[in-house]
Amino acid sequence: MAISLTQSIWNELLLKRDALAGKPLAALFAQDPQRFAGLSRSADDLLLDLSKQRLTREIVIGLCAFAEASGFGPARERLFGAKVVNASEDRPALHWALRLQHDRPVLVGGVDVVPAIRAVQARMRGIADAIGAGDWPGARGTPIDTVVHLGIGGSDLGPRMAVHALAEDRVAGIAVHFVSNVDPAQLGRVLPGLDPARTLLIVCSKSFRTPETLANAQAARDWLRERLGADADLSRHIVAVTANVPAARAFGIAEDNILPMWDWVGGRFSLWSAVGLPVAIAAGWERFAELLAGAARMDAHFATAPATGNLPLLLALIDFWNVNALKVTQRVTAPYSSALDLFALYVQQVEMESNGKSVAADGGATPWITTPGVWGAAGTDSQHSFFQWLHQGNIAANVELIVPVASRHGDRARQDILLANALAQAQALLAGRTREDVEAEMLAQGADPAIVERVAPHRVFGGDRTSTMLLLPGVNAFRLGQLCALYEHKAFCFGVLAGINSFDQWGVELGKTLAVGVEAALAGGALPPDADGSTVGLIEAIRAMRAV
Ligand code: F6P
Repeated sequence: MAISLTQSIWNELLLKRDALAGKPLAALFAQDPQRFAGLSRSADDLLLDLSKQRLTREIVIGLCAFAEASGFGPARERLFGAKVVNASEDRPALHWALRLQHDRPVLVGGVDVVPAIRAVQARMRGIADAIGAGDWPGARGTPIDTVVHLGIGGSDLGPRMAVHALAEDRVAGIAVHFVSNVDPAQLGRVLPGLDPARTLLIVCSKSFRTPETLANAQAARDWLRERLGADADLSRHIVAVTANVPAARAFGIAEDNILPMWDWVGGRFSLWSAVGLPVAIAAGWERFAELLAGAARMDAHFATAPATGNLPLLLALIDFWNVNALKVTQRVTAPYSSALDLFALYVQQVEMESNGKSVAADGGATPWITTPGVWGAAGTDSQHSFFQWLHQGNIAANVELIVPVASRHGDRARQDILLANALAQAQALLAGRTREDVEAEMLAQGADPAIVERVAPHRVFGGDRTSTMLLLPGVNAFRLGQLCALYEHKAFCFGVLAGINSFDQWGVELGKTLAVGVEAALAGGALPPDADGSTVGLIEAIRAMRAV
């Protein structure tokens, strides 16, 4: 039977992979002094270094051919053409439209959506400017200066990450808190320290049906009522961000305080919508506009760069190559930047909720391993925890280091220590250290040969461990926008390569449904009839613990 073009290209790539087997990565540098130049790419002041990955320039060219054969070009056109790319929900994905730097029409169902986007942006700006100027008086006439953002998943991770990343841009006197988990402790740790007269709740939920957010919103509103008085006018203390305006209205939020979002923006892609309101309040509208502009710059790169120079596609191809050709199924994201402390959590949702699937867009099983497990934390902190595993563990992981070259805090000496560690960690992963090197070093330091014999094996580094380095000039609103859009488009590209739908998330539904029955049982109702023995046993154990 004739095999498809993609399969034949892939088979060729596997032969090239096999030709590399057993060759240390360091040898690839030795045999090709131009390896770094040939396997690094620059775009808009970003530099992507792929040279420490287990591949060659020929393999990268082959992977790009694989992408083209997988329909990368037409898929990209459908995305930016506002066509349906989310087949199971019959929707386009227009997160890119939220950051357009022009007003040319974008049609959804024949209707230009740009005016509605601009109208919401104007309302966001109005709120942000008013609060920033102390012109948003609460029920007692005192200006609102504190925001409690209630949301979860894509209604939390993006704005939380961006507010943290842009802390240096914080508008004087403005405090922003994020509450996502339904655990009473999260809200319980935030509210007591706040002045209700100066606090605005943002109830952020695209569906306005997410139990955690609605429960927290109810509890936070009760807190306001208890302290401001049952008859207090709360209209200046609660705004909603949602695609379900009727539900927000039914919850009792004033019409003027409901900022709409739309079904054609996925939750994990919604930072650029009114979900980003806390960013505009915390950092000011100008910074939020720069965030949008940075994302738009990445959109332009993604939409026009050829495959071999397309940063989002190349990042997706590296992940795809690692999981499908090299069977390396974990990817660690390690930003060397405290501003990006929350970035790994943000990309974890963008990538794993987009591509953590096994059914292809056409309903069949995808033949490909889909997204790697994505996790990580900032360096240098993570050098003092899981980098031990990365260097000497016995299961493989690929590492993505995101390294802003300059800090907004000036101290060049400490920034150099940070940068040196980022580069050295990648170098150590690559080079490792042999038993002979270790013994020679210990003996040269005068170690007792018996100790050398005993200790040396524990100090060997296997090396030959892959990493990707992304350098950027620094972290500001524009660069953060570029970075977030880079990963959004990377997730999209990975879905194209694996033939899956990156824009739905049916996988989150079953747990939510089962939780309803368990919650009823914990509240004193009957055990869920379809629950397994473990769940029943655990419910009964909780009941027993509570009875003590
Ligand atoms: O995790 C499932 C999910 O639907 C995410 O995709 C979404 O970002 C999050 O829950 C919150 O959903 P909502 O914004 O509708 O409350």
